[in-house]
Amino acid sequence: MTVVRRLLPDDAEEYRSLRLEALHRHPEAFGSSHAEESTRPLSSFAERIAGGYIAGGFVDGQLDATAGLLVPIQAKSRHKGLLWGVYVRGNRRGSGLADAVMTALLAHAVEHVEQIHLSVAATNKRAIGLYERLGFEAYGMEPRALKVDGIYIDELLMVKFMDR
Ligand SMILES: CC(C)(COP(=O)(O)OP(=O)(O)OC[C@H]1O[C@@H](n2cnc3c(N)ncnc32)[C@H](O)[C@@H]1OP(=O)(O)O)[C@@H](O)C(=O)NCCC(=O)NCCS
Repeated sequence: MTVVRRLLPDDAEEYRSLRLEALHRHPEAFGSSHAEESTRPLSSFAERIAGGYIAGGFVDGQLDATAGLLVPIQAKSRHKGLLWGVYVRGNRRGSGLADAVMTALLAHAVEHVEQIHLSVAATNKRAIGLYERLGFEAYGMEPRALKVDGIYIDELLMVKFMDR
């Protein structure tokens, strides 16, 4: 059975485990690194959950997918949400779980922001396909956005306007 809901601080242990798997397996897909996050205490993951919005996709009680929304606190920027931490565990890909967590996130976002921005590795066709399907459009490219083990990664910048 699949359940999609907002993560709560009590989910911190399971969230940390999935997050560290994501950073370990896909270093090119995330701005954070496994080396940095694996040293953080469990409490910092609970604080991250409490301080923002993370949609979690649970299959048979196990957390298998996440998508996070960050809303800036500055008055001039808080109409723009930032999508981060989109991940589906390997054996759950292509099952609709990515759409399920993203749909939950978008339902939350429409109440809080006017647009959502994201950056995605320009070569990550699967993620770009997901975002395009959900109405995100590319508006630019950040060259050398990340440097992973000496390799530069360009990132496509995408936006979704909630009123379109
Ligand atoms: C990016 C990511 C979240 C996308 O999730 P996904 O499950 O792989 O992707 P999709 O939901 O688009 O599904 C992929 C395929 O399954 C199909 N699919 C989706 N839902 C389906 C369903 N309910 N039933 C059958 N097929 C389905 C899609 O149509 C798609 O097919 P296509 O590639 O032929 O078009 C996932 O691949 C991932 O975690 N990757 C590693 C981390 C990463 O890159 N994160 C993004 C950082 S910006």
